[in-house]
This record gives sequence, structure tokens and C-alpha cells, in this order.
Amino acid sequence: MKKLLEVISEEMQSVFEAAGYGEAEAGSRLGRVTLSNRPDLCEYQCNGAMAGARKFKKAPIMIANEIAEKLQGSRIFSQVEAVPPGFLNLKISEEFLKEYLQDMCRAEKFGLEMPPKPRKIIIDYGGANVAKPLHVGHLRSAVIGESIKRICRYAGHEVIGDVHLGDWGLQMGLVIMGVKERSPELVYFDDSYAGEYPEEAPFTISELEEIYPASSAKSKADPEYKAQAMEATYKLQNGVRGYRALWRHIMNVSVADLRKNYGSLNVEFDLWKGESDVQELIPEMVQYMKDGGYAYISEGALVVDVKEETDTKEMPPCMILKSDGASLYNTTDLATIMERMRLYHPDQMIYLTDKRQDLYFEQVFRCARKTKLVEPETELKWIGFGTVNGKDGKPFKTRDGGVMRLETLIQDTKEEMFRKIKEGREMSDEEARTVADMVAVSALLYGDLSNQASKDYIFDLDRFTSFEGDTGPYILYTILRIKSILSKHAEQGGSLAEEDLVLQAAAGDAQKQLMMQLAGFNAMMESACEETAPHKVCAFIYDLANAFNHFYHETKILAEEDEKQKKSLIALLILTRDVLEACIDVLGFQAPDKM
Ligand code: ARG
Repeated sequence: MKKLLEVISEEMQSVFEAAGYGEAEAGSRLGRVTLSNRPDLCEYQCNGAMAGARKFKKAPIMIANEIAEKLQGSRIFSQVEAVPPGFLNLKISEEFLKEYLQDMCRAEKFGLEMPPKPRKIIIDYGGANVAKPLHVGHLRSAVIGESIKRICRYAGHEVIGDVHLGDWGLQMGLVIMGVKERSPELVYFDDSYAGEYPEEAPFTISELEEIYPASSAKSKADPEYKAQAMEATYKLQNGVRGYRALWRHIMNVSVADLRKNYGSLNVEFDLWKGESDVQELIPEMVQYMKDGGYAYISEGALVVDVKEETDTKEMPPCMILKSDGASLYNTTDLATIMERMRLYHPDQMIYLTDKRQDLYFEQVFRCARKTKLVEPETELKWIGFGTVNGKDGKPFKTRDGGVMRLETLIQDTKEEMFRKIKEGREMSDEEARTVADMVAVSALLYGDLSNQASKDYIFDLDRFTSFEGDTGPYILYTILRIKSILSKHAEQGGSLAEEDLVLQAAAGDAQKQLMMQLAGFNAMMESACEETAPHKVCAFIYDLANAFNHFYHETKILAEEDEKQKKSLIALLILTRDVLEACIDVLGFQAPDKM
């Protein structure tokens, strides 16, 4: 379905043309209509008469008057007013708006058009490091990535989400050393052992979570220990059997826990690949870069220059191998690009990381392009997000200043939500827990996603969990309000079947506002996808929920006596509910049945 503003603009354009005012300078179309920036005066506006005045050597108000004249009796506008010095103030016809919404109800995805050329997109998000607990810094990558994945999928693209685990670096050597410290007798450390290794991991997840921080702290204080951890990393990477077997255990135990934690935020990955998966590709890639004349040795290290003439900031070369031949973060990312091109051949790769990695991704992308690891058409896009801060404006910490674990953050939000749900509600503890868990996810996700990704935001538990204001719980509350009216209607014997419910033109202003807001769905979703911007979905549903609640307070719905009118109101409620639910689904959360 065409977007409402397109339909309106086309009507306007045809009138401009019929009146002899075709294109203005540089081919700009005079009939372009936008949302009004003075909603007190009109709903839409067109400034074409002003834009065309010079070319057509006429006072703008004369052109505007002429256009307004021609649009009297238009099917689309109920009011067209020319105002000095030459603005066209517009109101949409209630009848036309109703027809648009009716089409929207019948269309797939509420009239969102499928892309002419669907893209295959890989999203690299999450980025958890194996054996290290997720912390608050991991929240945004997971939540924003998941939402972008869902938005792009909804919009008709093929999307593959990859968690890209950090599973091959020094932290693995540290865990191995930590295990060795605790139980040196384990067979994994016996070089002469040639038998099968046990199937059972020699640690649980809670032990694993103790091992890494202890070992990491020790390596910082004890250089010799650190050297041993580096050696363990080296042995692992070079295939020492016992170390590989131990690594498998670390992976299994850790990944099971990561799945659970991501799962509690409704974050799901299609691929659980990691840095380790591409290690075998590295020698081939290095050879390729050398053969192509791209990589050369500089101070012992293998590098690729990525500087461009137009650079104003410093752009160091991209390092492919360290002087000791070890690979780096870069190396793995480049090898992963190579693998992704081979296995999936995507049109686009999107990465989500902290915005401080901007220079890093600039180097990696330039290197991938220069060395032709990707085709010229393959788009590489990096989205850098801001920090989650505490009320003091500094990165969010625990009360005693430690790193905030993601699990704790989720748990605290659930607790706070539970407290608020129990307040003034008759609900068993058990039921309240289930409801609170769902609502808490909306609070966390919406609290994050409603901010533009690149900006820092303040984690405000009290505000995020409030049922009022620009929050997830407010959106859910609105959905449940609609659902409860609909079920009352059904209890009173009313039908909810589509064929019984016919929309009528808006009876009042609040209803019209709600209908106009709904009509903007397809345009909003299209731009949220194009701009990879979940915050646009949040802004849209916040306005929609406000428009609905205003309408609800102004309108008697179930008490409406005119049957035709009542059916129309029910149809509008259903559409509002469905649009809200489609939107929260792409944000990554759901509404409970009750709250
Ligand atoms: N594991 C990395 C970290 O904790 C994030 C990975 C981001 N993705 C990537 N392809 N580099 O910083």
C-alpha cells in the first residue's frame, strides 16, 4: 500500500500540474505534503506555492489561492486553506481516512510494502565473551541487535543473527590456568595421557564464574602466572589435545548459560559462531593478502595500509599478524568476513558494538574492501551505541562500585516490577511473578530502545518500570486496556469477527487523531528499517498509545447506542491492538494476558 503522505502528495502534485505549475527549480515537486508543524492550525501542510513563486513569477499567495480553489470538493481533503504569505493548510477528509484504514486492515502487514529487492543481512551482535559473565555493557548490543533483526525481517529482508562469541583469546588461557590451579591432577594437564577425555565438565557454571575473575586478578598481580596463561592460550590455539578438550567443556557450560541469559531478554541468535570458528581460515587469508600485494611487514608485524588521501584524522594500518605471528581481534573479524561471504554471501553485514570501537571498525571495513574480501556491492555497516549510565552520569555500577552483571540488572528490574504489580492489585504471588517477569522485560527493552542508539542514556529503574510516561509498561498497559474492552464486548455477546465490523468515518477529533496516527504505520516501519532505528518504533507506539488513551477518555465505546458506530469503534480497537502488538514484537517483547 502506498504511504498516506505519498497518496496525499500525489493528489496535490496533480493539482499543481493541472494549474500549470509543474516542477520548480532542480526538479523539486511542488506538491509535496508534510505533517503540519502547527497541529493547532491544520493536520498537513504544503509549501509548494512558496517554493514555486520565483520560477512562475507570481506572488505565493496567488498560487496558493488558485490551488486551494481547485481542491474544493477534493476526495482527499476536507479543508484546504491558503494563508499568507502562501502556505497551504490542509485537513484530511474523514471519509478518505476511513477508506485508507480499511485497506490497511485488509492488507498484509497493515499495508507495509515489501522491498523491491529483499536483502540478505547478517547482524553481528551480542558479542559475549565465553566464561565471562555478561555485564551491563552487553545489554545494548543484544537488545538493539535483536530489534534491528526483527524489524528488518518484518520489513521483508532475510536476516541472520550471529552472536560472534569471544571464545579464542587470552580469557580462555586464563580459565584453563584457573582450572589447573584448582585441580592440577585433572587428566587434561597430563601430557602423556592418550585416552578419551571425560564427557562431564570438571566444573559447574557457578564455579566457572569464580574461576575467570580469580585467574584474571592473579594474572594482573603475578607476571609469571600471566606468562603461563599466555602459554596456555598458545597451546590451546595450536591444538594441544587436553587443552582443546577442556576448552570444549568451557564452551558447553558457558554457552548454555549465555543462551539462558539472552533468552530471558527474548534475544535469540541463528548462529552461535565465534572467533574460534574461523581460526583455520587465517593462514589462507594471510597468504591471500600477501599474494595480492596488500599486506607487508612493518616492524615485524604484518599490516595492510588503510589510509586514504582525504583522511583528516590519523588512520593507522590494519594489523593482520603480530610480530610473533599471533593473530588479533582484527584478524578474526576479517577472517569472519571471508567466511560469511563464502557461506552466506550477504548483501549487508551489520555490526553492533560500543561506540568506542569506531576507529577499529573503520580500519577493518577499509581493509576488507581494499583486499576485496567483500564485493563492492556488499555493504558493511557499523552501529556504535552509547553507554548505559547511572544517575550520576557515569557508567552504571553496582552500589559498591563494581561491574553490574546483566543477570543482576534483570533480576533487580523483575523485583521492582513485582513490587509495583503487587501494589494495589489482588493477585497471587505466583501470578504476579509471572506477570512481573514479562513486564520487566518490556521495561528494560523499551528503556533502552527508546533512546537513539548512539546516545548514552541513564538507567532509571523507577522510571523504566512506571506504568505512566514513555515506558514499556505504559505501552503494555494500553494494550491490556484495549483487550479488556474487547473481551467485555465479547462477554456482552458482541462479535469480534472481521466481517461484522465495518469502520465508519471518525465521529470526533480524538478518534480522527487516533486514525491518523495508525495510518502512519507503514511509513514508520519502512524508515525504522532503512535507518536501523528501533527508537522510531518506540516513538510511534508512544504517540499511538497516547492517541488511543485520549480517544478512550473522550468516547463511550461499549455504551455506544448506535450499533453501526459501535461496531466501527470495535474495529478501530482491534486495529490499534494489532498494530501495537506488531510493534512490540519487533522491539522484542510481548504483553501478558493480565496485569
Ligand atoms: N567480544 C567483543 C567484546 O566483548 C565484542 C565483539 C563484537 N563483534 C565483532 N565482530 N567484533 O568487546
